[in-house]
Amino acid sequence: MRLQGKTAIITGAARGIGRAFAERYIAEGATVAIADINEEAVRATAAQIGAHAIVMDVTKQDSIDAGVAEAVRLMGGIDILINNAALFDLAPITEITRQSYDTLFAINVGGALFTMQAVARHMIDTSRKGRIINMASQAGRRGEALVGVYCATKAAVISLTQSAGLNLISHGINVNAIAPGVVDGEHWDGVDAKFAAYENKPRGQKKAEVGAAVPYGRMGTAEDLTGMAVFLASDDAEYIVAQTYNVDGGNWMN
Ligand SMILES: NC(=O)c1ccc[n+]([C@@H]2O[C@H](COP(=O)([O-])OP(=O)(O)OC[C@H]3O[C@@H](n4cnc5c(N)ncnc54)[C@H](O)[C@@H]3O)[C@@H](O)[C@H]2O)c1
Repeated sequence: MRLQGKTAIITGAARGIGRAFAERYIAEGATVAIADINEEAVRATAAQIGAHAIVMDVTKQDSIDAGVAEAVRLMGGIDILINNAALFDLAPITEITRQSYDTLFAINVGGALFTMQAVARHMIDTSRKGRIINMASQAGRRGEALVGVYCATKAAVISLTQSAGLNLISHGINVNAIAPGVVDGEHWDGVDAKFAAYENKPRGQKKAEVGAAVPYGRMGTAEDLTGMAVFLASDDAEYIVAQTYNVDGGNWMN
């Protein structure tokens, strides 16, 4: 019960890693609001795990403002934000579309920045020693031949975590990030399908390849990440500021 009495809002938590974070936070004693663009899924997940459901599109300022206000109304305030909503796409540099670029940056970077801004304003107004956790990726640590835009968005998340961490710690708000490696689930089903099309591979082969390449010996699970998400929100992480932690079975070191 390391998060007893805390309140958290987690974006993109109707499924996958965000859902696992929500379930673990609830098990640790927190009250959780899950915010997602997928109304049907977010309501179903919230009912299953005992969270509040918020329909929110992190690319729309009105929706962020309304979603954050709703979370405050439902829970009495926000102690922890996890910026988890994101979208993946893949294409060679010569085939990247402006639409893909605009969409990925709007969700992965703009969504994280402006949700962080809205929640940080609330934390400052209520004199809360808040915690903000941004979801980066090993993709933000280096480029990948077919993943130019997504990699760039996650590098931006690491950079924003550094700047926001340095800025907001003066208000007692710790901002840090988690960089997962390859995490199995519906997200990677979609990634595998896109690689299958571009690299002319049967479905499932890319997953097998990336799993075999992890030093630990397999792809990660969403549950592999939850310990770090609890730690960064806990009192034990009080002195940790502006960092991005790799939780990836040994894929990347820095
Ligand atoms: N799965 C992996 O291998 C992996 C690896 C590294 C980093 N990550 C990062 O971890 C986070 C979670 O990944 P996941 O695998 O659970 O992804 P996922 O695709 O399973 O879940 C993403 C969620 O975000 C929601 N969403 C999409 N657009 C949104 C918007 N505009 N507003 C609000 N919600 C929106 C979706 O409805 C979905 O529920 C992401 O930031 C992702 O980039 C994942």
